[in-house]
Amino acid sequence: MKNLKLKKTEKTLIITINRPDELNALNSALINELDDVFSNNRDDNNISSVIITGAGSKSFVAGADIKEMANFSSSAAAAYSSHGIELFNNIESYSKPVIAAINGYALGGGLELALSCHIRYISKNAILGLPEVSLGLIPGFGGTQRLRSIVGLGIAIEMITSAKHINSDEALRIGLANKICNDVLEESLLLCQKISLNSPMAIKTAIQSIILGKNANYYDSFDIENNLFSQLFTSSDTKEGIDAFLEKRKPKFKN
Ligand code: COA
Repeated sequence: MKNLKLKKTEKTLIITINRPDELNALNSALINELDDVFSNNRDDNNISSVIITGAGSKSFVAGADIKEMANFSSSAAAAYSSHGIELFNNIESYSKPVIAAINGYALGGGLELALSCHIRYISKNAILGLPEVSLGLIPGFGGTQRLRSIVGLGIAIEMITSAKHINSDEALRIGLANKICNDVLEESLLLCQKISLNSPMAIKTAIQSIILGKNANYYDSFDIENNLFSQLFTSSDTKEGIDAFLEKRKPKFKN
């Protein structure tokens, strides 16, 4: 792949966005490549989690590629935005935990990518923001919706309308980041190791319940959880997890 580097370590797929000369800005070719990765590895049982990070130490992703957008017609902008939204929805509903290991700038489309990931670990030098209005734009890859659902309405409107950049301490304070890390990739891999010990079937089901529930009516969301919870009792992983506890041994999950 031209714009991505892929590496598998034990049960984790590490995706590195690799356009360091443009601070890893997202162009259409890169979005297509990410699309391929998330479509092709959906049912790969050898992977229990995914990490997305940026090449170099300066930037995770500094946004959508502004140079590419310069000559967009309104219809080209619509196609570009809906492709990005579709990809980021696929990441958000991915069956394995996806961790954004944010090593520097996560601006515009870069923060929108991170918002579609399930977990955000950030470096001390991380700078986050949705500065699109400073370019006469708005976020177009789902950022207006996801930022609001993660940090709340007031902070989302403040961040988006002021176009401000926030530092790692502020990102942690408002719940935009899970953790500030000395070595963001190393700490993300440690988390992936913990994830890999648990039942892949239960993890997939938990993500499904959280994401479907997030978008459902409040009371319907409990029906979603109830259905998914009961379905697990037909799976061998659930039997194995409970048997292992009762027999005081470590479970061997098969998915
Ligand atoms: N799209 C396209 N190219 C980008 C880019 C983007 N979103 N962000 C950075 N680049 C390019 C720059 O044009 C520059 O390329 P050049 O050397 O060919 O001119 C290169 O990456 C380095 O960026 P530069 O601006 O020189 O680095 P800096 O350290 O001075 O500033 C940023 C870093 C992130 C603050 C600055 O690049 C920036 O504001 N980028 C745009 C962020 C943004 O608004 N994103 C939302 C887009 S909708």
